[in-house]
Order: sequence, then structure tokens, then C-alpha cells
Amino acid sequence: MPSVFIKTYGCQMNERDSEAVAAQLVAKGYSLAPEEAGADVILLNTCSVRDAAEQKAINKMETLIGQTRKRNNRAVLGFMGCMAQSRGQELVDQLPDVDLVLGTQKFHRAGEHLDELLNGRRDSIVDTEAEAGSEGAIREHLALGNGEARAVTAFVSIMQGCNQHCTFCIVPSTRGRERCRSIEDIVTECRGLVEQGVKEITLLGQIVNSYGKREIGVKDGKSAFVQLIEAVHAIDGLERIRFTSPHPKGYGEDLVEAYTRLPKLVENAHLPVQSGSDRVLKAMHRGYTRERFSDLVGKLRAAAPEMGVGTDIIVGFPGETDEDFAATLELCREVEFDNAFLFKYSQRRDTPAASMPDQVGQEIIEARHAELLAAVDEIRGHKLRKYIGQQMEILVEGPSRRNAARLEGRTRCNKIVILEGGPRFIGQVMEVRITEASQTTLYGDPAIHNLN
Ligand code: SAH
Ligand code: F3S
Repeated sequence: MPSVFIKTYGCQMNERDSEAVAAQLVAKGYSLAPEEAGADVILLNTCSVRDAAEQKAINKMETLIGQTRKRNNRAVLGFMGCMAQSRGQELVDQLPDVDLVLGTQKFHRAGEHLDELLNGRRDSIVDTEAEAGSEGAIREHLALGNGEARAVTAFVSIMQGCNQHCTFCIVPSTRGRERCRSIEDIVTECRGLVEQGVKEITLLGQIVNSYGKREIGVKDGKSAFVQLIEAVHAIDGLERIRFTSPHPKGYGEDLVEAYTRLPKLVENAHLPVQSGSDRVLKAMHRGYTRERFSDLVGKLRAAAPEMGVGTDIIVGFPGETDEDFAATLELCREVEFDNAFLFKYSQRRDTPAASMPDQVGQEIIEARHAELLAAVDEIRGHKLRKYIGQQMEILVEGPSRRNAARLEGRTRCNKIVILEGGPRFIGQVMEVRITEASQTTLYGDPAIHNLN
């Protein structure tokens, strides 16, 4: 049977989609190639959020074409995911050596299309149609962890698409309108993962707190998303629940309160703010003000003082002035994010922001990005150092990605902790004492040796 190699760009949703495609192909008898060279099928799962991410995947494909075709290798080369969806046939026109272009509602069709291509029945396939029910098709898991270890953590996709239409964002067009899976379907998938040894589940969606708003609705004062968390929480053997990303708009009291009564829901919130300026937030169509955002963080920290708060920020949105940027910097200092992903604004086709006047020059974007990066790095480093000497609960996920001789775990508030220890710790929830902190990572010593 053929071997497949999948390279993933972009977000956790893409990682999850790649894993589901790989699992689907493994179930058909494919093997997973350890590297591109020699693989019979090479798929690039793409991201369209910024132009740089698209260019990276296109350059990669050009290199792959050069390498495989020169050796007269008939490997099947394909794009899938967001760029495949937004560019479709255009990709094959530009790069005729590309065999497959698979859109975001077609991941479950990968196997059948590859059969046709590998058997030479078709020359190339572009499949980017909308498909009803595709949100429920990303079900299969590989349950592989770091290195040889079994997976301790898993992503579960609870919905697809986004209806918010932030003016800078291409996602509503690459992922389509919001569609959600049923609570029952999601719980069945989670239960299966726990039976395979998974201890922590991250629920994924573009705006998870919009989950089931129309289809399921509010019951006993609880939004559909909180009902879903409760249902997942009830699974025996599951230790931890995370979710990403909630949207600050419509983040209800019921979801804040959930942290106070559901012990498996860990103290972590990734809350994309995008800007600290109300004027820019409005132009972005985000649906909240800076004050509302700060209030929400305050409420979350009051509910759970250890709450780790992460965010996404865009610098250089059209019309962003020095004052607007200063407001973002000030917000970062005020909120003290535990983690912030900074994005340089990138014009995306057919988005309202792309044709707004006052596009910010690249030099200014670079300078603001560097200034904000220095600030958020300093805040993060400072916050991490405060943990030195403290005892924290971690879930040991597997060998450290940087040094396989050590282990890597995660605190409830989403900090990575490196520790010494053998494979018997993997999958365990244990207490460690923090001994050291770098700019991004904590180092710990097992505080209570759990010898089970
Ligand atoms: N649904 C997610 C966002 C998905 S896109 C959420 O709101 O949680 C991930 C991040 O990419 C966004 O939060 C934003 O910070 C960034 N992004 C999106 N479009 C962008 C653009 N045109 N230029 C730069 N960054 C962008
Ligand atoms: Fe994009 Fe805004 Fe939705 S950032 S994914 S349009 S919430």
C-alpha cells in the first residue's frame, strides 16, 4: 500500500484536519512516511490567514515538484485546507504538476480521490464544493503522541465555519458558514479517545461560544456550549478539558461560572483581542470594546485566579495610528497576557479591510510588531519567573519535543514544564516544583513521586 506524508501549516484546526486525513488513510492501509522523500503521496494542509502562510506552502510545493519530478517520481502531490478552498483550480493552473486540490469540506474524500489518482484513472482532481454534514466527517484519530508514546491529549472539532465576518479575515470564506455537530456525536468521539488513553481534550472551533446557538439553544440558563462542556466533563477517566477559541463577544456569565464548578475545565482562556483601540475594534467588526474585554478578563481571573490568558493581536490594521497602537501596547501591559500571538496585518482577497483607505506601510508594521513583541516577551518572562519555587499540577504529555531524554508536561494554565523522568510518568497528572524559567518554558522537579 502507498505511504503518505502530510505537512501542516497554520492553526490547531489544521493540525486536527491533517490528523483526521492521516487516520482515514491509515485505516485504508496506507503507511505514514517518516519524511517527504520517498512518500507516494505528499499533501500540504494550507493556511490562508496571511499571505506569508500561502507563499510558504506554494514555495514548498514548487520545491517538491522539482525534487519529485526530476527523479521521475510519480508521487501524488496535493494541496488541502484553506488555500485549496480559496484558490481551487487556480492552483493547478499555476502549478500543473499538482494532482489534488482538496477543500475544507472535503477532507473525508481524500481516500477516494487518491485511489483514482494512484490508479491513473484521473490526471488531477479539484474538489472544493460545499458538502452538507462535512462538519461531522472529521472523526478519525490516530491517537499518536510525541515520539513513540500514545497520545495523552487530543483535539476534537466541535463545529466548522464562522459567521462573524471580521473585516480583515478570510476564514468565513475558506471555512464557510457556521455548522455544529451534535453534543451526542462529540461526546461519543471524546469517550472513544478516553478509552484509548487520552487524558486531556481540547474542543476546537472558530468561535466555540457560538456553538449550537441556533440548533441547541439555552437550557436552564446554560448556553449550548456550556451544556456540551458538562457532557464532556461527565466522561469517566477524562482528566482535563480545554477549548479554543472563544470570542470575547457573547462570552456569557455561564461560561465564566463554569470554571468555578467544573474541576476538569482547566484555568486557561485563549481570548483573541486583536487590538486595544476601540476605533480599530469597530473597524474590524469585532463586536466588543476594550473595556468589555478587560472586564471579561477580570471576571475570568476572579472566577479562577490562576487563569492563564492568551490572545491574538494584529498590528497594522488599515488606519491604525500611533495612538491606536499605543492603546494596544497599553492593553498588553494592563492585562499582562500569559501568551500573545502577534500577526502583521496582511491584505486578504475579498475582505472589506483589503480595500480600506490608509493601509499601513510595511516599515511601520515591522516596527510596531518588533516593539509589541519585545513588550509581550518581557511580560511573559516576568510572569513565568514568578512560578519559580511554586508547586504546580502538570499532565505529562510525553518526551520533550526539544530533548527526547526529558519529559514535557503542561500546567492547567497552559505553561509547558520540562522535567526529568521515565516513560512511566507519561499520561500522569502529577505535582512538580518549579525550579527554573526561560522566556517560554518552565522547568520542574517531581514534588511527589507517583510510582504507579
Ligand atoms: N476564529 C479565531 C481566529 C482565526 S484566525 C478566533 O477569533 O479565535 C487566527 C488569527 O489570525 C486571528 O485571531 C488574527 O489575529 C489573525 N489574522 C486573521 N486574519 C488576519 C490578517 N488578514 N492579517 C493578519 N492576521 C490575521
Ligand atoms: Fe476570523 Fe473573526 Fe471569525 S477572526 S474566524 S472572522 S471571529
